[in-house]
Amino acid sequence: MQKRLRVRDGQERRSQVKGHVASGAGLVVDPGHTLVSSSSSFEVAPDWPSQGHVEFQQVVLTYRPGLPNALDGVTFTIYPGEKVGIVGRTGSGKSTIFLALFRMVELRGGRILLDNVNSRSVGLESLRSRLAIIPQDPFLFSGTIRENLDPLGRHTDSDLYQVLEQCHLQAVITQMGGLDCELGERGKSLSVGQRQLVCLARALLTQAKVLCIDEATASVDQKTDQLLQQTIRQRFADKTVLTIAHRLNTILDSDRVLVMHAGKVAELDSPAVLSKREDSLFQRLLTSGQQ
Ligand SMILES: Nc1ncnc2c1ncn2[C@@H]1O[C@H](COP(=O)(O)OP(=O)(O)OP(=O)(O)O)[C@@H](O)[C@H]1O
Ligand SMILES: [Mg+2]
Repeated sequence: MQKRLRVRDGQERRSQVKGHVASGAGLVVDPGHTLVSSSSSFEVAPDWPSQGHVEFQQVVLTYRPGLPNALDGVTFTIYPGEKVGIVGRTGSGKSTIFLALFRMVELRGGRILLDNVNSRSVGLESLRSRLAIIPQDPFLFSGTIRENLDPLGRHTDSDLYQVLEQCHLQAVITQMGGLDCELGERGKSLSVGQRQLVCLARALLTQAKVLCIDEATASVDQKTDQLLQQTIRQRFADKTVLTIAHRLNTILDSDRVLVMHAGKVAELDSPAVLSKREDSLFQRLLTSGQQ
């Protein structure tokens, strides 16, 4: 059933979303689903979620009828400002956690609370503008860096340069001709790592309290990766950061690690505790050096 959602400018529009969906900090590629919200929207406070408290309660998500549950009764609580690494074998449900959080796919059961507000009761546009995501292979607009960072033209040039500097992109953007330089089709003038840094810059501009990172795999060079990690540590110290890690060393200093297995939470504890437990899946992932 299609419902109407009220968006921030007070107008109403249909909540059907197809293709690419803008989020506060990046463009999330809808994996082929047509999303129809089945809930009515709820006006949240302008600074919601001001804490960054994320709670999954018995979340069940299925991509298609007949397929096994991609999330199968997932329950966890992430506290404000926590840095949590998400690991697990391929297909265990890691990316689906983010899709559920951004309501790219609606839940079949359970609920997700952000600062104790059920995400289902919030308009999609509000929800997605308050969370930030750095996808594995970020999709940028064919346009300028300015349009990509600030599509609504809300920020000054000095704000934009400031976040570019914080994300170690100032030199490359200046070299390319400044804020109005064209990024080419889907941002192809930049490497995958640099596109992730653009998403990070966007997340800084929107001041999202919850940042979700789906770490890029082999395609990011080590230097860019280090810059990304360093910026996250410095600039997101008081924000909640969830990182899907493909390289375990990036999350060894996390507050906690969530290990997914077959759509369920298998383990959730500090890396120190999990790596000491001989029978932990985390320990096995560490020893095998792969997921
Ligand atoms: N768009 C989709 N349509 C159908 N099934 C899907 C879709 N996306 C994921 N799945 C299935 O859902 C399950 C969880 O997938 P998910 O992408 O969350 O795993 P993951 O842990 O992120 O894996 P990876 O490490 O390979 O990225 C898998 O069985 C996967 O095949
Ligand atoms: Mg994934």
